Order: sequence, then structure tokens, then C-alpha cells
Amino acid sequence: MRVLLTGGAGYIGSHTAVELLQSGIEVVIADDLSNSSLNAVKRVEAITGKSVVFYLADVSDTAMLRTVFRENRIDAVIHFAGFKAVGESVAKPLKYYRNNLCTTLSLLEVMNENGCGKIVFSSSATVYGDPDTVPLSEDSPVKSGTNPYARTKRMIEQILTDFNAADKGTEVTILRYFNPVGAHPSGMIGENPNGVPNNLMPYITQVAVGKLPKLSIFGSDYPTPDGTCIRDYVHVVDLAKGHMAALNHSAPGVNIYNLGTGKGYSVLEVVDAFERVNGVKIPRVMAPRRAGDVAVCYSSSEKAAAVLGWHAELSMDDMVRDAWNWQIKNPDGYAAE
Ligand code: UFG
Repeated sequence: MRVLLTGGAGYIGSHTAVELLQSGIEVVIADDLSNSSLNAVKRVEAITGKSVVFYLADVSDTAMLRTVFRENRIDAVIHFAGFKAVGESVAKPLKYYRNNLCTTLSLLEVMNENGCGKIVFSSSATVYGDPDTVPLSEDSPVKSGTNPYARTKRMIEQILTDFNAADKGTEVTILRYFNPVGAHPSGMIGENPNGVPNNLMPYITQVAVGKLPKLSIFGSDYPTPDGTCIRDYVHVVDLAKGHMAALNHSAPGVNIYNLGTGKGYSVLEVVDAFERVNGVKIPRVMAPRRAGDVAVCYSSSEKAAAVLGWHAELSMDDMVRDAWNWQIKNPDGYAAE
């Protein structure tokens, strides 16, 4: 089997490429490197001892995608490509709508032209918005979204549903990620944010390595046991394996799965785990709430376990250990090469 990974040089894409290659699947990556590095692809090849077919391509470039499909018989696509910074999406909504939607439309058009109907899409727990109840199951209500990034995920889920409605033979799998963290245990690939990180784990690792002075904890007055927000952090290697399981169980229709651990950790619990496991102090201050954050968000992982046979195997201790291992081995991310 040969699988096209759009955005395959990125954080989740590169880890998924490793799992696919190690399972004997051929990998083609189309990535414009706007928020990723070719070094990630080289390191995927180094980890696996296998080669990847790489295209420097903007996935909204239909002509370029046609070339990719003409030069490679693609059996399935995993669609990672997309912008993902919540705050930036509020400041630059058109950039987000154009990029995230146009890439998807081009991709589906070219898939149609080539008779390829199997797609796995990187969606997000953000489609659940501010949950009425937790844990979140795939049947929990989907909300309109509090920011343009979230709305693009919701819109793409709708586009994919309509794509399948027009041709019931197509196989659409929607994976709603919770909070991906950690890195490959080799320390060769990991999360490499541009500029100051928005997300908790890369912020913590950059404080730990001395690039940032202290962590601001956004909100200590939430209705949670320690007052800080609770999230379902999932190790990126487990998440990558979830994509493998999704490909193996791909079936006609629109099939939606949450990929999370089913367990919630507060911000303070994550920071404490990082300090305990890695023996590093994280200077921190309590700060006001961040706009748009929900108090508690964690998954029910029952459907993925029952249908895909997938469940997260790695613990919070594994997540903080591997996140730190990546950071200390690559203090400047891929930029050092
Ligand atoms: N946090 C801090 N300080 C920081 C960064 C984050 O206290 O410097 C807190 C946040 O307030 C939140 C928690 O850490 O309570 C997790 O924040 P992240 O930014 O790491 O993750 P989010 O849950 O906000 O967002 C993630 C993804 C989004 C996705 C969303 C879906 O980044 O892409 O989950 O739930 F949409």
C-alpha cells in the first residue's frame, strides 16, 4: 500500500510516517514546509532505514497534486496539512479559511480524478467546543467553534461528509485528536513550533532548556480540583499508531473516532510530572485565563478501542520524558541542521 501524507513533514505527520514505514507501507509526502522542516523527513528516513518520496508542494496547488498522483499510485491519503494556531486564526481568519479549506478541496478533487476514495483527516477535539459533559464521545454535540481554526476543522468535516454522500463507496475517517504531546523516543523527531510556542508542552520544554524565563499558567480559578484546566494529553507516537489503525479499519462511509487517552490532567499536574520525571524545575507564575479556553476536556476512547482496536499505551511520564529528550537533543529544533 502507498499512502500520501499531506503535511507529512509536520509534527504528527512525521511520527505517523515512521509508523507507516515500519509497517511496510510506502509513504509519499506533500508539504510546503511553511511550518515544518525537510530535516524531519530526513530523520524519518534515518529512524526507519526506509526512503520517503517527498514533494515540496502546496496542497492547494491542484496542478502539483495531479503530478503527485500521476507519478505515484496513491491508495489512501492522510490529510494533515493545515494551519493550527488558534490565536493567529483569530487575527488572520482569511489565511486560515483559504489555506485549510482550499487544500482540502484540491485534494478531494484530485482524489476523485484518480479514483482514490480513501482519506483519513486530522480533526480536533476543538469541534466539541465547550463541552456540556465529559468524557466526550463521538456522539457529543459538535459546536460551531469559538475561533476560525476550530471552524475550519468543523467545515472540513462537513465537506468530507458531503464528499462521501455523493459517492457512498468512499472511505472517510475523521480522527478527532485531543492534546498531542511528546516526541519519538529516539529524540530525532518532535514538535518544532515557530517562534514562541502557544501550547503547554513545548512552552514547558523551552522554559526547562532556558529559552524562556517562566511558564504562565493561564487561569487558577477554574471549577477543577486545583483550579487549572484539564486536558486529555496523548503521546504523539500513540496518536501515530491511531492513524495506522484507522487505515487498517478504513470502511465505506464517514467514520469518526476520538484519539485520546480518556484521562484528564490539569496544567499543574503536567508541570509537576515534568519536574518529577526529568528532575528539572519549571519556574511558573499564575496568570489570568486565556480567552477561549474550556475548563475541562477529555475523551471517551471506547469507540476507538472497540472498532479500531486502538488505545493509548504511553503514560504522562512517557510524554514528559520524551518531550524533554527531544528538546535537550535539539535545543533549536530542526533549525540547527
Ligand atoms: N497553558 C498554559 N500556559 C501556556 C500554554 C497553555 O497554562 O503557556 C494551558 C492552557 O490554558 C490550557 C492547557 O495549558 O489550559 C493546554 O493548552 P494548549 O494550548 O496546549 O492546548 P489546548 O487545549 O488549548 O488546544 C489544543 C490544540 C488545539 C486544539 C485543542 C482542542 O492546541 O489545536 O487542543 O481541544 F484545537
